[in-house]
Amino acid sequence: MIYKNVDFNNYFKNYPDENGYFGKYGGAYIPEELKAAMQEITEAYYTIGQSRNFIAELRRIRKEFQGRPTPVTHLARLSKSLGNVQLYAKREDLNHTGAHKLNHCMGEALLAKYMGKKKVIAETGAGQHGVALATAAAYFGLECDIYMGSVDIKKQAPNVARMKILGANVVEVTDGLATLKEAVDAAFAAYSKEYKDCIYCIGSVVGPHPFPMMVRDFQSVVGIEAREQFTEMTGHLPDAVVACVGGGSNAAGFFSGFLNDPVDIIGVEPLGRGSKLGDHAASLKYGTEGIMHGFNSIMLKDENGDPAPVYSVASGLDYPSSGPEHAFLQEIGRAKYDVVNDEETIDAFYKLSRLEGIIPAIESSHAVAHAIKMAKQMKHGSILINLSGRGDKDMDYIIEKYGIR
Ligand SMILES: Cc1ncc(COP(=O)(O)O)c(C=O)c1O
Repeated sequence: MIYKNVDFNNYFKNYPDENGYFGKYGGAYIPEELKAAMQEITEAYYTIGQSRNFIAELRRIRKEFQGRPTPVTHLARLSKSLGNVQLYAKREDLNHTGAHKLNHCMGEALLAKYMGKKKVIAETGAGQHGVALATAAAYFGLECDIYMGSVDIKKQAPNVARMKILGANVVEVTDGLATLKEAVDAAFAAYSKEYKDCIYCIGSVVGPHPFPMMVRDFQSVVGIEAREQFTEMTGHLPDAVVACVGGGSNAAGFFSGFLNDPVDIIGVEPLGRGSKLGDHAASLKYGTEGIMHGFNSIMLKDENGDPAPVYSVASGLDYPSSGPEHAFLQEIGRAKYDVVNDEETIDAFYKLSRLEGIIPAIESSHAVAHAIKMAKQMKHGSILINLSGRGDKDMDYIIEKYGIR
């Protein structure tokens, strides 16, 4: 399919280009001392990462350790409660550690191992990426430092405990709003001092090249499986695919399976408390072009042009930018990005729990909430949701803040 001059038959060969650009978005805006380190990771990814041994080992790990493929589930009772539209979920909540994050962490840590690195460093918001990386580090015998804002440490206590049990060193970040952006800042600062012995394992399709590409590629297993399973189950493609977008890793991997198909692609950002700057983290909807954390994308800025404070009920979505590939897909119109607020999200969290017996992560509940809205507007058809993670980590917080509904 050719769409707005982009050849989706050869999309993965051409996007990103050799400098890490998706159109004008992406690139690597990094200090001189990190250029060699990024070059080393890029070269390792193109050589080791594409080698037969690496791919075979990753496939084996996905099957034997992660429990892939994860299933696609027909959400029959939820669909019936909404009308004629059929909703389905790709069950990344059933991936080992309870979210999609392990898909790229096993890839990144396997690459670190092949490169002879001793340690992995990362940031985490909801703690899912931290848990996934701590798991990968334990599996491969690597040291692991996870940077996490103190606000998120309080909110996501079960995940902090899991990281510690898995042997990771959780480093508390108290700067600024003490959430995801500050955790990324601190992790990058640490990495620039330790890059010889370690590799930065970013938690999403953000950061300098090659991370947005590498993380998307490691996550593409979700889209490949989902397309195959859905068509086998129903005999056709879904009318729409829907995923939540923080940095955008679960969405990028899931969407990649459908870019070349006549399928509507919808990313869902958090509208939080409302559309006023500071009350949400809907960067693609309300942001403008800018550079942050080493990449050019669409971001929310304050009056000085710096990353604006952001808010979402979901710790994994409160990031003031999104991956460059999403900015590109939005610009050419191949994907649309919409928003749902906290209330709609909590409502969807309870609906999926009560009607389907699946407690979703608050992040994933954003995608469910949007699919519910779409189903009410559409007369017929099918929507496939990427259920990026399970909600065990969120239960205490939701009960305390919203009560049992
Ligand atoms: C379950 C879950 N879904 C989604 C996200 C958002 O990340 P991304 O947009 O990179 O998929 C997170 C982040 O922590 C998460 O834990």
